[in-house]
Amino acid sequence: MQAKELTLTNFRNYESAHLSFSDGINILYGDNAQGKTNILEAVYLFSMGKSNRAHRDGELILHGQPSADLSLTFADSIRESQADIRLFRSRRKQIAVNEIPVRKNSELVGRFRVVYFGPEYLGLVKEGPKARRKNMDIVISQLKPAYFSALSELKKIVESKNALLKMEHPNQAMLEIMNEKLIAVSTEIIACRSQYIQKIGSLAKEIQNEISMGKEDLSLTYQSSVGTADNLSREEIADTLRLRLSDAWQRELDLRESVIGPHREDIDYTINGKDAKAFASQGQQKTIVLVQKLAEVHLMKQETGELPVLLLDDIMSELDKKRQGFILSHIRDMQILITCTDVDGFSLDADARLFSIENGQITNC
Ligand SMILES: Nc1ncnc2c1ncn2[C@@H]1O[C@H](COP(=O)(O)OP(=O)(O)OP(=O)(O)O)[C@@H](O)[C@H]1O
Ligand SMILES: [Mg+2]
Repeated sequence: MQAKELTLTNFRNYESAHLSFSDGINILYGDNAQGKTNILEAVYLFSMGKSNRAHRDGELILHGQPSADLSLTFADSIRESQADIRLFRSRRKQIAVNEIPVRKNSELVGRFRVVYFGPEYLGLVKEGPKARRKNMDIVISQLKPAYFSALSELKKIVESKNALLKMEHPNQAMLEIMNEKLIAVSTEIIACRSQYIQKIGSLAKEIQNEISMGKEDLSLTYQSSVGTADNLSREEIADTLRLRLSDAWQRELDLRESVIGPHREDIDYTINGKDAKAFASQGQQKTIVLVQKLAEVHLMKQETGELPVLLLDDIMSELDKKRQGFILSHIRDMQILITCTDVDGFSLDADARLFSIENGQITNC
């Protein structure tokens, strides 16, 4: 998978910009607050149909402008495509792929696949479960568009159920109907997550073994709403969920919120059998995240036959020389977009392209 040409108009601090990427390493460098991460954000927008850091589209539009336009040509081994995104301040964004309008994000997600790794991910192991779920959801969604749709459905159901539970006297029959809807959509999500964690877990185990020279055995375990979901059929998942929901019936009424389902799940990381959240050093936790990101790259290749585009935001400065070398040795033959404030330390081959970024202006070097 490759990003070829990116054109921006009135996006973040870019009035107008055009980048023509190399299929190998692309280094975006410049001082702080010049617009490096904004470029990665623009590219990411084409993978998930929304920003990885903004809550509202309006934040993405150049101050004082009513709309922003982004266009990306990208290619996999079969075809080249073009996607266009127009963002508005108070209207829904418009997306088109090869000039055909895309009505829902679920029709976009999965076409242009990326793995994003920025400083905000470094706390993934020790932060709350929300960040781990979000990271997992982004990867699975790009591999299975149906999963992305199921997640949107789940969000709506949980919101309605919570609204019902917050009423003075929640209607019990309505609650029952909502639980059945929750079971249907959750079963699909849990089955996908279970498969994903088994696959990513075994890739991460191998990579951690390599980076620690056999000293660290990393395991990822899915804390699902049905206990151990591995090897359960969809029917068994649904039955177990039904039981758990009926056990939690009174608790949910008391707490006035939905507490059973994929929106409450987590992933545990252990090293040599010990909980990494509690026992791993900061350096080890960073390594686990790095290993997880590399595992995501390998999984995407395994599942789709194509390497994703790797977006590395300011990450090299966070890692020591050994980890930097390790990451670079693992990501050969793929397209990488890296942001940094200093180009020293990169060995640049003929494929590499350098972009200097200063106050929303890009200069090819
Ligand atoms: N909607 C917007 N309109 C105009 N400027 C914006 C908008 N959103 C962000 N900016 C500007 O973009 C700049 C930040 O860009 P970005 O996050 O890409 O910086 P960076 O080069 O990655 O910096 P750092 O090295 O600190 O991470 C800031 O100057 C910010 O004011
Ligand atoms: Mg930045």
